[in-house]
Amino acid sequence: MPARTIAVLGGTGQQGGGLVQRLAKAGHRLTIGSRDPDRAAATVAGWPALSKVEGSGSILASSYAEATAAADVVIIAVPFAAVDPLLAECRERFRRNALVIDIVVPVTFASNTVDLAPIPDGSATEYIRARLPEHVRLTAAFKTVPAHLLNEIDRPLDCDEFVCGDSAEARADAAAIVGDIAGLRPIDVGPLRAARSIEHLTLLAIRINRRHRIHEGRFRVVGL
Ligand SMILES: NC(=O)c1ccc[n+]([C@@H]2O[C@H](COP(=O)([O-])OP(=O)(O)OC[C@H]3O[C@@H](n4cnc5c(N)ncnc54)[C@H](OP(=O)(O)O)[C@@H]3O)[C@@H](O)[C@H]2O)c1
Repeated sequence: MPARTIAVLGGTGQQGGGLVQRLAKAGHRLTIGSRDPDRAAATVAGWPALSKVEGSGSILASSYAEATAAADVVIIAVPFAAVDPLLAECRERFRRNALVIDIVVPVTFASNTVDLAPIPDGSATEYIRARLPEHVRLTAAFKTVPAHLLNEIDRPLDCDEFVCGDSAEARADAAAIVGDIAGLRPIDVGPLRAARSIEHLTLLAIRINRRHRIHEGRFRVVGL
């Protein structure tokens, strides 16, 4: 796919950081949206130098609002509790028909028990849909690939990523971005409400990791 300008809001984090580096390695131009762009720039400076990898795209840092306004594709990569303040800052800044990829999983860790926060909308993705301008094309993806693996950017990936969204065109656009990360296979799982199932799969992966003392439980669909 031709290089895109992609903002990763929360790209300093565990999941967002791995995505920023792997998408830059695939040739896209990345901007990290951060509450503190200077700290984000220092985070980037500490990453392995992608500038030496042929074909890599740039990685810049800016505020959430500025990163959103400058991007064709916006990835929301913050904890669920941070979604409201993030949308308050960015809601009016999305480009017309921007593609948004939500990776948020509303996991809670109370009393050492892992669960999903109850969300009346049905899932984090549907919560976000209800609070975004209508022209924004919302999809969900990157909810099940483990940060631990994603962050070791020289390690090959070998798993599937589930992509949902209410328009086939938006799902195809998001799937192409997933497919740009070497070793990730996008799987179209239909409309946005499928995010409920995807978020439960992430919860299952966390349970598997804890029970079996691993860090990289992930999914691959057999027969497809
Ligand atoms: N970790 C995984 O394996 C994994 C897998 C699948 C999906 N996810 C989902 O991806 C999202 C990000 O997960 P993560 O593990 O990358 O989280 P994280 O490292 O804790 O946070 C990501 C970034 O969110 C920003 N942020 C904004 N408001 C925040 C607040 N109030 N508290 C903390 N951080 C805040 C921070 O960036 P700035 O300070 O630069 O603004 C932070 O670096 C979550 O919704 C998670 O469910 C994670």
